[in-house]
Amino acid sequence: MCGIIGYNGKDNAIPYLLDGIKNLEYRGYDSFGCAIDSNGELVIKKDVGRIDNIINKYKLQDLSANKAIMHTRWATTGGIEQKNAHPIADCYNRIAVAHNGIIENWKELKEGLSEHNIKSDTDTEVLAHLIENELKAGKDLKSAVADASRPIKGMSSFIVLDTKNDDLVAVKKGSPLVMGLSKNGNFVSSDVPSFIKYTNKVIYLSDGDVVSIGKDSYSIENLNGEKRPHVVTTANMSVKSVEKGDYKHFMLKEIMEQPSLIKKIKDSGFEEVEKAASLIQKQGTIYITGAGTSFHAARLGARVFREYGINAIPVQGQDIPSYKKVISDRDVFIIISQSGETADIINILPIIKNNKKIGIINNQESALSREVDALIPMGAGTEKSVAATKTFTLSAIYITMLAMIYAGKKEEAIRELKLLDIDMYNVFVPSVISAINNVAEKIKDLESVLLFGRDYDYIIALEGALKLKEITYIHAEAVDSSTFKHGPLALISDSTYSISFVSKALRQVMLSNVQEVKTRKGKIIGISDSNSDLFDLFIKVPEEGLFSFIPKAIVMQLLSYKVAALKGLDMDHPRNLAKVVTVL
Ligand code: F6R
Repeated sequence: MCGIIGYNGKDNAIPYLLDGIKNLEYRGYDSFGCAIDSNGELVIKKDVGRIDNIINKYKLQDLSANKAIMHTRWATTGGIEQKNAHPIADCYNRIAVAHNGIIENWKELKEGLSEHNIKSDTDTEVLAHLIENELKAGKDLKSAVADASRPIKGMSSFIVLDTKNDDLVAVKKGSPLVMGLSKNGNFVSSDVPSFIKYTNKVIYLSDGDVVSIGKDSYSIENLNGEKRPHVVTTANMSVKSVEKGDYKHFMLKEIMEQPSLIKKIKDSGFEEVEKAASLIQKQGTIYITGAGTSFHAARLGARVFREYGINAIPVQGQDIPSYKKVISDRDVFIIISQSGETADIINILPIIKNNKKIGIINNQESALSREVDALIPMGAGTEKSVAATKTFTLSAIYITMLAMIYAGKKEEAIRELKLLDIDMYNVFVPSVISAINNVAEKIKDLESVLLFGRDYDYIIALEGALKLKEITYIHAEAVDSSTFKHGPLALISDSTYSISFVSKALRQVMLSNVQEVKTRKGKIIGISDSNSDLFDLFIKVPEEGLFSFIPKAIVMQLLSYKVAALKGLDMDHPRNLAKVVTVL
């Protein structure tokens, strides 16, 4: 987690980097800091809290330097305290390090640094002092950084600013790192959106790259100082796509983008999906995996495979290691991930190295994208809000298409998608929005909400509960209605609110479960295509065909958004979370 960015060029680095680091805030927002080379003197400003507040507190906009690095943190090693914010300096205040990742053997390495003045509780500080030692031994900056990074274990990337050297030096060792090349200077960063306003000439760095970033030059070598090949590409990303535009929050912007993204899928030829389907071997097991919201899409996918008589097993990325002894080389893995960086998923790659892998991935330049045998790009564009919305919808659609195409039902799938398109028109209509707002008012002060559903709707209940939890901090629990008499019914009282998903096919049995809740005086919010006397509140969702789980998921996204807005919460940056989970 954490976001890092550096600039070295003819212009003042500060406005570029202050703008850029805000575009990396989705990666973590416990604390923020910057280091500049002010005429040979190292100046570090850092603090706990959100970037904008720290900029104002320290008047960072008034700084000026041609060479600077910045960091936005999601705390791993070391608490959320000013001393643990990055960048982190060496004993002599000569160099500063901004680091993204985790140094697993930092404690061990720290033992060899007892002579040093260690000021923080972070793993990163070890790196700063290891570089200091190498510099003291007379090495040039690049070799010092390369040699210092050799003993560190775990996934990392970091940027080093040295007041005695004209270049910045950065290393990629597992965590993402990209370069941006512009006429007036060069960037190095965790992600492209941070500098896309200034350049679209990008180098996606590879693990083991050590880069020297000069004002108008750069070089890429391996840890042994040998030149490494690289490609300069033109990033296909618009500035608009990484900005909020007229929306108050990224989450709302991303929710509202869904109808047009669905249309785009509908009009695509599904070539990548067909190619992926051809990799699935009949004799093997199909594992579908992911984490969090992506795992909910995996569960939906497995359900669709089953619908067509094909056994597919959804397994959380975290659980795959426990399947190690039963996985055979014939099994195929379908991996769903927005970021393509999630540690739980990257961690399983060695276990499934002999298996065919299909990725449904949004970030096509991610580590995971490079590892799969067939890539189905989600094509959602940048998703910045921590809560996944549009990428859930797109991955759920793509995994459904994959299942149906594999089952030989492509035409049927395309017909179903058309129905979804029509349904979508009927989700963002004033009557539905006003019903959502009404429910939001009712539940915003509750401590707990239950979500009931069966079959597909249970998976939507799981996803809806996750959305509510993460951005509204209301305890939300999904319950499979078919099991609720086996325990969860005990939770119902006259103060309980439950959201019930009532589909056409399961209406009778769902309403009889709703009745059981009503009998115990529980309040019911019905989400269905038609109302019932049993509902205290009702949100109408269109329901036509297989994909009708999507409008329900979108209603839950809108409801969670509205509740968070009513509570005055920052739903783009929920407490304790970060968009990309790169540590286990
Ligand atoms: C929830 C959410 C997370 C992610 C999970 C996996 O809204 O965003 O649960 O779905 O961290 O992330 P990716 O899809 O990037 O692998």
